[in-house]
Amino acid sequence: MRTLFKNISTLTGIVPEGVLRKEGRAMDEVGTVENAWLLVEDGLIAAFGGHSEKMPEADEVVDADGGMVMPALCDSHTHIVYAGCRDGEFLDKINGLSYEEIAARGGGILNSADLLHRTSEDDLYRQAMERVREMISKGTGAIEIKSGYGLNPEDEMKMLRVIDRIKRTSPALIRSTFLGAHAVGRGYTHEGYVQAVCDMMPEAATLADYVDVFCDEGFFTVEDTARILEAGAACGLPPKIHANELAESGGVQVGVRYNALSVDHLERTGDAETEALRGTETMPTMLPGSSFFLGIPYGRAKDFINAGLGIALASDYNPGSSPSGDMRFVMALGCIRMRLTPARAFNAVTLNSAYAMGVSNLTGSITPGKRADLILTFPGWNLTKIAYLHHTPFINKVYLNGNPIDYGTDN
Ligand code: NIG
Ligand code: FE
Repeated sequence: MRTLFKNISTLTGIVPEGVLRKEGRAMDEVGTVENAWLLVEDGLIAAFGGHSEKMPEADEVVDADGGMVMPALCDSHTHIVYAGCRDGEFLDKINGLSYEEIAARGGGILNSADLLHRTSEDDLYRQAMERVREMISKGTGAIEIKSGYGLNPEDEMKMLRVIDRIKRTSPALIRSTFLGAHAVGRGYTHEGYVQAVCDMMPEAATLADYVDVFCDEGFFTVEDTARILEAGAACGLPPKIHANELAESGGVQVGVRYNALSVDHLERTGDAETEALRGTETMPTMLPGSSFFLGIPYGRAKDFINAGLGIALASDYNPGSSPSGDMRFVMALGCIRMRLTPARAFNAVTLNSAYAMGVSNLTGSITPGKRADLILTFPGWNLTKIAYLHHTPFINKVYLNGNPIDYGTDN
């Protein structure tokens, strides 16, 4: 099946084959072709060209009508398998309690764990799929999903099975991360729980792609993290870790030491962190939605880029610190609050975020051979307007694996 998109104002996000991430100055580059066409064959990008190149024959033609075509957004850090929500804590927060204070009162992650324990697997799946559909309708085509609201062997496996079911049934590209070490489960000592997480690893590794640890003040130490990442490595799980959200925790350094695919959050970093990241395969990932919601600092994205590093941005969609999976809003926050140019923010929410979830060989750019995960915009849109007019609808249609998605466009 060959589908030709014609009358594209700007084909945006073209990346040569083999380029899997952008760092430093390359973050300023966005490959484009004006007045373009794009050929999709059997769900994959087959070819593209400008008005001077002859358009190929196809079984079906989509008239883009002067809209822009760009890669679908990639969200490399979410916690969207959760039960219910935590609106009571939202009121606590308005009344002045911090994230740590809410957690210390038994709210936070443990509250979600209690709710999840009481929720059936089918219901969890149904609730999470509503979030997936919402995210796709806002232009997201690839989603990493973490466990971490189970906090005991049975409920962590329940979460991983739900993520696996989403992987098999959703049109989005899904990756799964075992985050047993999100908080100490009820009934365990700290030490006993770290050991329990290590013991869960072999079974978790039958379903998960990656392992994560919340390496931060009041949660898990650098030593705990090293132990858990070693157990993960023994089961073939590369790390993606939560680091430096609440303190300069040493999480970045331990992540790099274990060759993490990404170190995420990074709201509190100094020169030691940028030094540790230089020359590594690890993608620094910032989550401006949680900075926005918690009122904590934004990551120092510009300093990282000036140090020659790449940056990914992700939503952190979860009920406690970032109750939104809107990657367009994440991109806008990157521009408005972190002073990223639209080009940098775009690279951070597409190719680099795909890299941070290990799928930039499959999606995240306009590259022949990759999945045709695309956003077709209404006429008149460009990257700057997407961030600037940050809540005006811009999506005409989302295509995943070449198929138009009919969830509506709630953007
Ligand atoms: O990434 N930081 C740790 N975990 C989540 C919050 C989860 C929650 O509060 O439910 C985060 O911000
Ligand atoms: Fe998170």
